[in-house]
Amino acid sequence: MSKNILISPSILASDFSKLGEEITALDKAGADWMHIDVMDGHFVPNISFGGCVLNAIKPYTKKTMDTHLMINPVQPYIDDFVKSGSDIISAHIETPHIHSTLQKIKSHKIKAGVVLNPGTPASAILPVIELVDLVLVMTVNPGFGGQKFLYDQLDKIYEIREIIDTCSRHIDLQVDGGITFETAPLAIEAGANVLVAGTATFKGGVDAYADNISKLRGG
Ligand code: DX5
Ligand code: ZN
Repeated sequence: MSKNILISPSILASDFSKLGEEITALDKAGADWMHIDVMDGHFVPNISFGGCVLNAIKPYTKKTMDTHLMINPVQPYIDDFVKSGSDIISAHIETPHIHSTLQKIKSHKIKAGVVLNPGTPASAILPVIELVDLVLVMTVNPGFGGQKFLYDQLDKIYEIREIIDTCSRHIDLQVDGGITFETAPLAIEAGANVLVAGTATFKGGVDAYADNISKLRGG
């Protein structure tokens, strides 16, 4: 089976004191996308960073800026994240007015993603599937890097792959949380084609990034 698996390293696990160098290193190491975890201390119990950080790293890579918004409300900040350089903006289905949020993201001619927390069933995507370019299945409860993969989410990945395959358009199926060399193959087998990996990408320091990314991809 030869699938095109994309790796989106979460910069949450990078060394923030030299973020520009980290982005350059990830770019050279073969990262396909850059995963930008935005947390507000309200929708999730942690605060990370906002659009100004995205703005600052944008000159260091031409790779896809994959922005995962763990914030509520979402809509007042969409324009800002578009201006800051997001190529994809993903919003949680558990936030209010997700349908109009996705419409608003699409109105900027960038890609829209919808994210499901571990407690949300696969069927929740049905009313919005026509609006999205990406479905992100959380395999940890969002808020922190370095958590353990929730194996009970695998069935949901299989279910969402089935739903996506009934659509005529290309829709990416992304997984996020606890992705390691051991869990990546399970997520891929279940139908994921984009893997977010923080801890597993950065493990071992800069000289290990290329090898880590290639192993996560299954190479
Ligand atoms: C969790 C974030 C993840 C996280 C992944 O709220 O959305 O992207 O940083 O980190 P690891 O790969 O370490 O689980
Ligand atoms: Zn994320």
